[in-house]
Amino acid sequence: MSGFFFSPGSAMVPPVRTVIYPGSFDPLTNGHLDVIQRAARLFDSVIVAVARKGEKQALFGPAERKTMIEHSTANLSNVSVDIFEGLLVEYVEQQSAHAVIRGLRALSDFEYEFQMALMNRSLNDKVETLFMMPRASYSFLSSQLVKEIATLGGDVSAFVTPEVNEALAGKLGQAGAN
Ligand code: PNS
Repeated sequence: MSGFFFSPGSAMVPPVRTVIYPGSFDPLTNGHLDVIQRAARLFDSVIVAVARKGEKQALFGPAERKTMIEHSTANLSNVSVDIFEGLLVEYVEQQSAHAVIRGLRALSDFEYEFQMALMNRSLNDKVETLFMMPRASYSFLSSQLVKEIATLGGDVSAFVTPEVNEALAGKLGQAGAN
């Protein structure tokens, strides 16, 4: 990408090169990874931003979630992982980025995502939200379900990376998350 583009109501801004992919990632699923891989093909740099919020209710701490994502994306040279807290739009500016990626699995995601995108826009009009759809076969996948199944001893190896599967096994004190 080169040159500059026009942003409504503002001066010319540099092209989008860095995108932020924020989320809880508790833990990363293959659906998240699919979105990261697609974004990495489109943008110069993708920062996967692990939200520190909700730490108490999370299964994994922010540093554990970050490490799992780093290991799972080690083959993607333009992907980095960070932990953020506070307002997403402020973090986006700190990183000199202009866009946020969010995955849309199904229509049921839309209302929440639409509300969040427009709220973020009202907080900072320069931050755009881009939606990417993961592979259809991941449309039913969520971190919440993965945790529930793994906690009950089910096999989640088809839904997460080997690194995440191992971390789940370790966290849940099983011989293997199957
Ligand atoms: O994976 P999640 O839980 O759907 O991710 C939600 C997340 C972390 C992207 C969202 O809660 C967020 O951006 N939190 C940071 C605080 C913030 O900016 N809140 C206002 C959002 S409109």
